[in-house]
Amino acid sequence: MTTLLTGIGLLASQDDEIGERGEIAGAALVLDGDSIAWVGRAADAPDADERIDLGGRAVLPGFVDSHAHLVFAGDRADEFAARMAGVPYRAGGIRATVGATRAASDDELRQNLARLEGELLRAGVTTFETKSGYGLDLATEQRSLRIGAEFTPETTYLGAHVVPQGSDRDAYVGLVCGDMLAACAPHARWVDAFCDDGAFDADESRHVLRSGMAAGLEPRLHANQLSAGPGVALAVELGAASADHCTHLSPGDVDALAQSATVATLLPLVEFSTRSPYPPARRLLDAGARVALATDCNPGSGYSTSMPLAIALAVREMHLTPAEAVRAATAGGSAALRRTDIGALRVGARANLVVLDAPSYVHLAYRPGVPLIAQVWQAGTRVV
Ligand code: NIG
Ligand code: FE
Repeated sequence: MTTLLTGIGLLASQDDEIGERGEIAGAALVLDGDSIAWVGRAADAPDADERIDLGGRAVLPGFVDSHAHLVFAGDRADEFAARMAGVPYRAGGIRATVGATRAASDDELRQNLARLEGELLRAGVTTFETKSGYGLDLATEQRSLRIGAEFTPETTYLGAHVVPQGSDRDAYVGLVCGDMLAACAPHARWVDAFCDDGAFDADESRHVLRSGMAAGLEPRLHANQLSAGPGVALAVELGAASADHCTHLSPGDVDALAQSATVATLLPLVEFSTRSPYPPARRLLDAGARVALATDCNPGSGYSTSMPLAIALAVREMHLTPAEAVRAATAGGSAALRRTDIGALRVGARANLVVLDAPSYVHLAYRPGVPLIAQVWQAGTRVV
């Protein structure tokens, strides 16, 4: 079954192979089953079984949210309100969510994740990653990943989020690298650690990532959120797919990222929600680093699923052009997940699309906070 989507005002493929800066005005797209069969100018479009006129709307690849924490229970609205009154964000707040998550049933965790998945879809996110990290004991970390894997293949083992209340540090790192890893690895693709003030240092994080890699997981790292610490250097040293946050970077960190294949994943909804300085995105891009934008949706540092708001912040606060911000939220996210089948509208890619109630993707930043996501297509099927 083929579907011709025509009347596309502006198609932003975010793939430099197609058109100037990956954009085509007056475009059409043919979907065949779950993938894209043809992309080009509407005047040249082939026939298809069904034809849908999009009335001049802009079409983009579905957003790729390469960093989120969606398996948890409860919220921390009081912590947010206190923060807005001047209390600084600290890693230790994670422990408040751990109690609620351990006490929740599998079905409660599943229902919360399904609710957030629905929010993400309505925000145009067609692929998302999610992590453990609110269990911090073997059973809850394992079930967090088992439940996460029911929703996405992009699951990340984050037993090394913080040391749980009452645990000995060395004993906990031993558990994360030993029995807990063995229980979690079958349900995870990635291994991660929170390498930052109040969480884990470079030696501990290296031990966690190396142990995960030895168990067949691929590395990514929470790095340089709270200070210009050793996280980015460690991510590059270990060939991590991504160094996430990158809020505080030394000149050496920027160079290291630019000279590596490690993607700098920026999470501006966290800076918004923690009232922190935004990451130096312009320095990263100008140095030649690959940049991704993701939500980091979690109950503590930033409880938002809005990729459009992340794009608007990247443009307004971090000085990305609108095209750079959309590329970071699509092709950038797919690079951060080492995927080649998503993040661009090219022949053979998965038919994951966002249709905007606007003539151009520029409106995502130009009209912040306005619900512009008119349609979402996932693997060739319209889901929103
Ligand atoms: O990505 N930085 C570490 N983890 C989360 C925050 C978790 C929390 O505060 O609950 C983050 O910001
Ligand atoms: Fe995170």
